[in-house]
Amino acid sequence: EKTILSGIQPSGKLHIGNYFGAMRQHIRMQEEGDAFYFLANYHSLTSVSDGKRLKEYTLDVVLDYLALGLDPEKCTFFAQSDVPQTTELAWILGCHTPVSLMEKGVAYKDKVANGLNPNIGLFTYPVLQAADILIYHSHLVPVGEDQKQNIEIARDLAGKLNRAYDRELLIIPEEYIVKSVATVPGIDGRKMSKSYNNTINIFDEGKVLKKKVMSIQTDSTALEDPKDPDTCNVFALIRLFADDDTREEIAGRYRAGGYGYGHAKKELLGLIEGYFAEARDRRKKLTENMDYVIDVLREGGIKARERAESVMEPIRETTGLFRSF
Ligand code: TYM
Repeated sequence: EKTILSGIQPSGKLHIGNYFGAMRQHIRMQEEGDAFYFLANYHSLTSVSDGKRLKEYTLDVVLDYLALGLDPEKCTFFAQSDVPQTTELAWILGCHTPVSLMEKGVAYKDKVANGLNPNIGLFTYPVLQAADILIYHSHLVPVGEDQKQNIEIARDLAGKLNRAYDRELLIIPEEYIVKSVATVPGIDGRKMSKSYNNTINIFDEGKVLKKKVMSIQTDSTALEDPKDPDTCNVFALIRLFADDDTREEIAGRYRAGGYGYGHAKKELLGLIEGYFAEARDRRKKLTENMDYVIDVLREGGIKARERAESVMEPIRETTGLFRSF
């Protein structure tokens, strides 16, 4: 059976890019293999330095996942910080990581270009991510396009360690990216991302949701003129939420003319509200049962730590790390 693994950083509210690009696949794939999903809270430390907030964000993501249909009976769902073997492996991998490889990191280069003064955590972020993946002997990593480079680095580092000790200590993983949702656009047409402030969050509702949908950027084609659905930011989101018939019907109205972007936005708003309605109810109920939520993480953490320990032990042995007890 294949081991599937993925993680999400708890660093604020999750958006529909996270959902369609990653979480929906995670929920589907829990049926298909031995799935491990985790809250990447060590990674969040590169940008969040408020302990109370990090804990809140972490539980928020747990609630989101459970509300959206992640089933802790079918997968191992846990917090990264419950598996300290991750940082242990990250150190060993770091000792086989050329500085020049990290300097090529797109996420790191972006932050530097935007004037951020990066810390070492941000610089070596891909090494920790590689450890996340490799510590469970994962085969398949379902993510959005923006994570592709990090998975390539994980493959690279696994190979380097195996070659350095001439033993198959780690399994070479592969990314799993669904093309049609590899990069979900935000309300300004760029990749949806918290750092661009262009997100529609999964659990936005009421006025906030309406305002965001109404502010999606469109061109200035007149109401009566025909429009191209394939270049429209509103339609790019409609196609995620609509079933095939609805999508084709709306595309037809775009092409016919007499259908304005305002109409399309109202349509999208209704689709989003309907799509997440059940999850929204489930989430509210879960917040009244936080003991259950914490239990889920404890059970997942115990299982994940066991697996990680079984991968870590031969690595300690092979690398010659002395353990006196
Ligand atoms: P994060 O928390 O930024 O995003 C979580 C997942 O959502 C995907 N995603 C998108 N997909 C399509 N369109 C978008 N606009 C969009 N925005 C976000 C991301 O690709 C990701 O799959 N470094 C990771 C977390 C991580 C991880 C790991 C992932 C840590 N360790 C090990 C996989 C394996 C991150 O920051 O994702």
